[in-house]
Amino acid sequence: MKIYCAKDYEQASRITANILAAQIILKPDCVLGLATGSTPIGAYENLIKRYEAGDLDFSSVHSINLDEYRGLTPSNSQSYRYFMNTHLFDHVNIDKKNTFVPDGLEEDKEKACQDYDEIIRSHGGIDLQLLGLGHNGHIGFNEPGDSFAKTTHCVTLAESTVAANARFFASASEVPKEAYTMGIQSIMQAKKILVMVCGKDKKKIVQKAFYGSITPQVPASVLQLHPDVILVGDEAALM
Ligand code: GLP
Repeated sequence: MKIYCAKDYEQASRITANILAAQIILKPDCVLGLATGSTPIGAYENLIKRYEAGDLDFSSVHSINLDEYRGLTPSNSQSYRYFMNTHLFDHVNIDKKNTFVPDGLEEDKEKACQDYDEIIRSHGGIDLQLLGLGHNGHIGFNEPGDSFAKTTHCVTLAESTVAANARFFASASEVPKEAYTMGIQSIMQAKKILVMVCGKDKKKIVQKAFYGSITPQVPASVLQLHPDVILVGDEAALM
């Protein structure tokens, strides 16, 4: 695992954007696995700046997002589709037809998951997967459990996740209780994984996930088995 310890969130965002930009420059038709949450917002802002400066071209990039709340429409401001559009896709020359987020409105859970796995498969997998880290070690919405879920599945969100994500909603009761998420196997099959973690509230889980035992109780711990992981964080999270 390569570790880049930045002095603060702004620098960590620039480093994360550098790595994403390098991937796009080296392979213009790459498949990016993208993440939501507050952590990657600064990296996306940096990518937009580089695009505006004429240094990045997203026209052949494909993106496959990690997860989506079940039951939210793409136009709901809390949906992850809306997040991706407003924080990145609307500001760069990516073709939205080449951007994928699980279909939160598909009521048939099995179909929603199979369709998404087919999207991942038909793209030949993911070149670079960006990940944030939940306080309980979740990646995407793969919550702690007794085993690692391999493929796309519907999860019941942990109470702590609902509580953590309530800050984006009017109240905790409005946070959807279920989500579709890419599975651990699909994440682990990405050629390269880029984890961004910032803030002192993530320090404990960083220790557990990257230096503790590998267990489905800490889903991110499985990343220790991946041959090409880059961890970018600020001093508060990493030191
Ligand atoms: C959500 C997302 C995750 C993200 C996590 C951490 O639960 N599904 O993909 O990594 O939040 O979010 P934040 O970056 O806001 O701490």
